[in-house]
Parts: sequence; C-alpha cells; structure tokens
Amino acid sequence: MPGAIKKIAINTGGGDAPGLNAVIHGAVYAARGLGWEVVGIRDGYDGILSPELYPGGGVVELNRSKVREISHLGGTILGTTNRGNPFHRLVEQPDGTKVETDCSNKVIDYFRDNGIDALIAVGGDGSLAIANELHKKGLCVIGVPKTIDNDLQSTLMTFGFNTAVSFATDCIDRLHSTALSHQRIMVVEVMGRYVGWIALHSGIAGRADTILIPEIPYSIEKVAAHLKLKHQQGKPYSIVVVAEGAKPLGGEVTVKSREPGRVERLGGIGETIAAQLQELTGKETRSIVLGHLLRGGSPTALDRNLGVTFGAGAVHGLSKGLNGVMVAIKPPKLEFVPLQEAIAELKVVPSDSEAILVCRALDIGLGDL
Ligand code: F6P
Repeated sequence: MPGAIKKIAINTGGGDAPGLNAVIHGAVYAARGLGWEVVGIRDGYDGILSPELYPGGGVVELNRSKVREISHLGGTILGTTNRGNPFHRLVEQPDGTKVETDCSNKVIDYFRDNGIDALIAVGGDGSLAIANELHKKGLCVIGVPKTIDNDLQSTLMTFGFNTAVSFATDCIDRLHSTALSHQRIMVVEVMGRYVGWIALHSGIAGRADTILIPEIPYSIEKVAAHLKLKHQQGKPYSIVVVAEGAKPLGGEVTVKSREPGRVERLGGIGETIAAQLQELTGKETRSIVLGHLLRGGSPTALDRNLGVTFGAGAVHGLSKGLNGVMVAIKPPKLEFVPLQEAIAELKVVPSDSEAILVCRALDIGLGDL
C-alpha cells in the first residue's frame, strides 16, 4: 500500500554478478531518503532460516554509511547462495540425515514478526521464481534482475553481463598474439549457461573466427572446414569462442556435475572441441576456461549505473505501491513487469538477432554452415 512502508529487506541470491553491491547502494540510499529502515538478509534466505550460523546477525541493518563505498566492488556484501531455496530446503535431522523441507512460512513469519513491509529480491531466474512464490504467499516483493548470462526475457540487459563480456573480450584479445606466434587454434570456453549471449558478444568484440552457442547446434566437421579455409586463405591461427552450453547437432550439453538441491553445472565442452579440432585440422590446439573469472572483479561503469538505477528504481516502485513485479530496463525507460512474466522463459539468442547477422557478415563461423 503506498505510503505504508516503513521498513524493507534486501537479499541477493544465486550466483554473484558484478553490480550487486551497486544495487544495494542504490536501494539503501533511495529507501533511507524516504525515511525507511533497511535490513539486509545474509546469503539469500539463510540469514533468516539459519541465524545460528551468523554470530553478527543473519539479518543486518543497512544505512547510508554502511553502503557508501561499495558500488564499485564486485561480489555482494550480503553474501549469496544457489542452494538456498526456502521451499526446498535441506534440513538436518537429529540422526544427521538431510530432508527436503518447505521452510517458506518461516520467511513469511519473520517478515511479519519483525515489521518488515517488503522485500527487494535481487537474483536471476531461479531467485526471482522463489521471490514470486513468496509473493504468492502474501509477501510484498520487487525483483531486481541479475545475471552475467543476460538470459532474462523482460529486460534488455541484466547487470553483470557487460562486465563479463568486457573481461572475456580482454582475455580473447590477449590470446591473438600467442595463437599467432605458435600458429595454434585457441578454444575459449565462457559461461552463459543455456544461452550464448556472452560468447556471442565477446566473440564478435574479440574478433573470433568461430563462435559456438547453445542456440545453434554445431557440426565439428563444419567448424574444422571453416577454420581450414581461413588457414588456406592466409590466417595461420584461429580463435574459437564456445559457450559452456554449446552442443553438437543431435547431442546434449556437457554437464560437469549434478547435485541435489541445485541446477546442473555445465562445463568442459571447450576441451572436447579442442581435441576434435586438433584431430580434424592437424593444428596444435589449446583450450582455456574463463569460468568464474567472468563474475569477479569490479563492475564496469555500465553495470554500476544499471545496478544503482535498478536499486533506486525498486524502491521507487515500492513507494508507488507496486508488488510482485521486477524492475526492467527498456531504454530509455525503467519499467516494471510482473514477476510471473519475467521468469516465464529464458531469453535465448534469436536466429535473426543482429549479432547473428553480424557474425555472418564478418565471416565468423557459427558451426552450422
Ligand atoms: O548463472 C551464472 C553462472 O555464472 C552461469 O554462467 C554458470 O553456468 C553458473 O552460474 C555457475 O554456477 P556456480 O557458481 O555454482 O559454479
């Protein structure tokens, strides 16, 4: 209800992304400006559900002085987890076994008992789905879209993506000289889960010869033929950027591990492709996995600005009485979309996207032609 808010909570869930602290900074400044109290929940919902783990308190007060110097820092001062779904929590029993338990009522009760009127939930598709379920149980929630993968449908961009692409591009730039010196093929595996945005954008910026993404299953023979042609035409080395979720025609993604209570971990496709390309082209080939380096370090200026804008925007939305929505950037405006709509499906790279057309125009192979 507009005007009724006196105290809000903020949490960060799922994998960290550069710009999380900028969101916290923006939200706390905006909320304190309205005279609201703000608390931060540690590690997703763990600060509420397992307070005994936090000697300094699982839920901490946030004020302007506490967040003044954080917007340029990577990570999240609140901590995060991707095993923290309160609806499917693994709770230890007296005999030491763990049983999946729905602890969502504890979260709702905590908010009610502590006079917290609303939650700003910062996360990717998984964390926003949890926030939506809590909203359906009566919690007043505004979501903020976070992920380096940029796979959320209703927003042009999520913060973290630009930092990941910038760093990956820097790494790819560095590989050109060593690849040329040894006349090698270098295969660079980047994160992105089931979508190819990071691979596509860093591969184009880094002048890759081939980019492999989940949306376009590849033929390794076609990848090799494309590179061999380029070698014959006078470019003696190659750079191949592969998204961790890329898969061969008729094949599956490469899964690194599966654990109860969390989504599967991808990884390893780069090494497989490197071995196959060495065999098919006769060129010495090396593979590099950029992995979590893409999530580390300071956010770029764009991600900082997106973060503070999202944070302040979420508070603005709450002050207008919005609930059950996610803040989204739809240039030139900030908008609010229902959480249900925001999590309905992943934003994959469309086959007619500008980036795909650019690849075709620049003779960057996509493994399909
Ligand atoms: O969703 C962000 C992301 O970094 C993905 O790109 C990657 O597949 C996954 O998280 C890695 O998760 P974790 O930090 O659990 O290894």
